[in-house]
Amino acid sequence: MDVSQFCSSTRLIIVAGKGGVGKTTVTAAIASMAAAEGLTSLIVEVDGKSGVGAMFGQAEPLTYDEVVLADGCGPGGVGQVRARALTPDDALVEYLYDHGMGRVSRRLASSGALDVVATAVPGIKDILVLGKVKQLEREGPVDLVVLDAPAAGHAVTFLTSARALADAARAGPIRVQAEAVVELLSDARRCQVILVTLPEETPVNEVVETAYRLEDTVGIKLGPLVVNGVYPQLAGLGEDPESVAERAGVDVTSGQVSALRAAADFRHRRQELQQRQLERLGERLPLDRVELPFLFTAEIGPPETQVLAGALATGLRAL
Ligand SMILES: Nc1ncnc2c1ncn2[C@@H]1O[C@H](COP(=O)(O)OP(=O)(O)OP(=O)(O)O)[C@@H](O)[C@H]1O
Ligand SMILES: [Mg+2]
Repeated sequence: MDVSQFCSSTRLIIVAGKGGVGKTTVTAAIASMAAAEGLTSLIVEVDGKSGVGAMFGQAEPLTYDEVVLADGCGPGGVGQVRARALTPDDALVEYLYDHGMGRVSRRLASSGALDVVATAVPGIKDILVLGKVKQLEREGPVDLVVLDAPAAGHAVTFLTSARALADAARAGPIRVQAEAVVELLSDARRCQVILVTLPEETPVNEVVETAYRLEDTVGIKLGPLVVNGVYPQLAGLGEDPESVAERAGVDVTSGQVSALRAAADFRHRRQELQQRQLERLGERLPLDRVELPFLFTAEIGPPETQVLAGALATGLRAL
């Protein structure tokens, strides 16, 4: 698959998956990869604390106001990564503002009224956020919007509540908004979901279930699956550390030998486990798949983001 074709095949990419699997990291990698292709990408995060800024070297959390996280990333100095937060409250204020209720909107949002409404109308927050994302996708001045979907088991509800609301509301603004969102989510020319998982048992089970539910309920286009945190296969793990050290002419203490043995054991077991899970995944989910390496660093900063963007591009090209 051509990378630029992937980046421009839909103007919206939604990155989803269970909590902690690397959604935000993959969001950053996609945006960075697109920028390296000379595109302007906009990261949208819904909670304001994803930590995506740090992946581009910016410590402050994102806010409603768009910021540029990386610039001049592609050939000829074009290509940019921008980012902003978009909470349901922000989206409500904008919605009311756009619908001629600008004066009351801020007060209403800050009064907590949205929480009252949200209790009565489940899914309304998701619709507000996705409605605004739809507007960015339609009218925004960027080439690609990458949405870092909410954490936890919320991803499915987040994406299916539009359908539920469109069915439930007979008429009125909620229905209009919900229908527009359903239209966006089910249009494979406008939007695709990139599911992220880890090569471990529970994440594999969950991603399989999520994939089928999303296809069934929303009819959403699933892009290549991203398996994050894959340990690169190391050869020679079964060798005896002592004799390897001897051959290399290196002195090792018995403490170092047992530490090396334990590390090799761990790595060997980990590799076997991940191999089994990757096989299970392949059997249960017939989707293209890209693997991203586990990086042995304390945190994901700009260099690591670049490494993962590169690995993503390589993986896509191999499809
Ligand atoms: N490929 C990787 N190699 C090493 N560490 C990684 C990798 N991908 C993610 N991490 C680390 O794993 C943690 C979780 O990643 P991330 O924040 O992207 O997950 P998430 O799915 O967005 O989590 P949440 O559900 O809380 O939003 C972070 O500390 C991140 O730095
Ligand atoms: Mg996150």
